Amino acid sequence: MSGPQGLWYEPPPPPSRPPEVPPEERRDPIALTIDGRAVTVPQGTTLLEACRSVGASVPTLCYIETLHPANACRLCVVEVEGARTLAPACSRKVEAGMKVATDSPRVRTSRKVVLELLGSSTDLSLAKGLHPEIERYGARPERFGVAPPEKPVKVDNDLYVRDYAKCVLCYRCVQACGTDAQNTFAIGVAGRGHEATISTEHDVPLPESACVYCGNCIAVCPTGALIPRTEHELRKKGAWDEARQTKTTTVCPYCGVGCPLELHVQDERIVKVTSPLDDSTTHGNLCVKGRFGFEFVQLRRSKS
Ligand code: SF4
Ligand code: SF4
Ligand code: FES
Repeated sequence: MSGPQGLWYEPPPPPSRPPEVPPEERRDPIALTIDGRAVTVPQGTTLLEACRSVGASVPTLCYIETLHPANACRLCVVEVEGARTLAPACSRKVEAGMKVATDSPRVRTSRKVVLELLGSSTDLSLAKGLHPEIERYGARPERFGVAPPEKPVKVDNDLYVRDYAKCVLCYRCVQACGTDAQNTFAIGVAGRGHEATISTEHDVPLPESACVYCGNCIAVCPTGALIPRTEHELRKKGAWDEARQTKTTTVCPYCGVGCPLELHVQDERIVKVTSPLDDSTTHGNLCVKGRFGFEFVQLRRSKS
């Protein structure tokens, strides 16, 4: 229906068919060599992906598939012929004609020193992924003659514990709390140099911060600096034993999203809940209910 001009608004007719899907970005093949082997990968591939595609083993620490590369640890460096500095494989994109060495003496020395610096300033006892690398590169953090500084464990809520003596400042938790997953921005890096640490705003306790207890930071922490309170209590008693734990996959009962859950069970009690990183719904992320809302199961068991 039309009316006097300027008084009635007549919307344009709806499109006769849905808008076209934008064309897929063209990814030309890129040829390079990795450890002397010729490789061809699509444009935009990272050096890490290219190295892994030919079975070259490149260690990583701050990198995880579900987050943007933070480029924080430099453990993944590789040598590119003609380049002045070593390149972080997790974020550097392939370029035509690159000649990449993943295990040259320079690369090995760099990774060894990175591991030694981390080990001399941080408690790596729960960083299980790093133990084989420390052995592989013959890293000896003790040669610096200093012990990692002691920091009190932050236990200020019922759900998870922060032990920053174990933190390697990989930024994963900050990214998971920010735009890469949760968009809550409850934590960030505070301080500079040796004083740098992960912190809530003004270092307030978690219950006074913006944290919503999704626990997505715990899910990505590679060093055990962030762990569920249940795990912390069992470790304190010397009772945490992964060899005795089973993992059962199920579906979260709380809402219609239906996130897949992995229940870690020890001695017939749920001790931790995770979600698979490679799941297309969660990418390892959960909300507070899915990750921590399991105590009612144990209560019902103890009453019956
Ligand atoms: S707390 Fe864990 S995830 Fe966060 S920066 Fe430290 S080591 Fe990385
Ligand atoms: S984890 Fe949270 S979002 Fe996922 S199904 Fe459970 S209640 Fe829903
Ligand atoms: S894994 Fe590449 S910089 Fe940390």
